[in-house]
Amino acid sequence: MSAFEASAPAAPPVPASFPPKELRQACDEIVARYPTRMAACLPVLHLAQKHFGGWISPEVEAGVAAYLEVSDSHIRGLLTFYAMFNTRPSGRHEVWVCRTLTCWLRGAAGLRRTALAKAGVDRCGVESPDGRFLVKDMECLGLCEVAPAVFIDGAPHTEVTTESLEQLMDACE
Ligand code: FES
Repeated sequence: MSAFEASAPAAPPVPASFPPKELRQACDEIVARYPTRMAACLPVLHLAQKHFGGWISPEVEAGVAAYLEVSDSHIRGLLTFYAMFNTRPSGRHEVWVCRTLTCWLRGAAGLRRTALAKAGVDRCGVESPDGRFLVKDMECLGLCEVAPAVFIDGAPHTEVTTESLEQLMDACE
């Protein structure tokens, strides 16, 4: 293999056919609510992530860009800016631990350690080996007055302790 071949960038992904027929109507309805197709990016990405098992593959990413007639880099920017999007397999349950000041002062570091230990991983953003969990660090979840806060699969939990977090995660199949 030549030095050029070794350093050549990967070919861009072939766009997935997007939206699939099950999502066509919902996507078209979302787009119709906005003044431009670009303005519909976030709700369409949320819908796509939910439909495709909790994450957006490069092919789906390219498919969404083509459907919304925006650049691939615009979609990439959204997926990497907003922490609620996943660009890798995400596990069956997402555990978001708030790491912002109020929660941190009230024990979020311990919750983070507990969540990672329960998932069997050593860092956030990595699917657990059994495919059950994805633990994510999140910025303020808007529940500072009842900190520390954790979301599991989109449901808020407040004044969480390491014990209650263990129970919540144990209840996840
Ligand atoms: S600082 Fe954690 S919810 Fe606001």
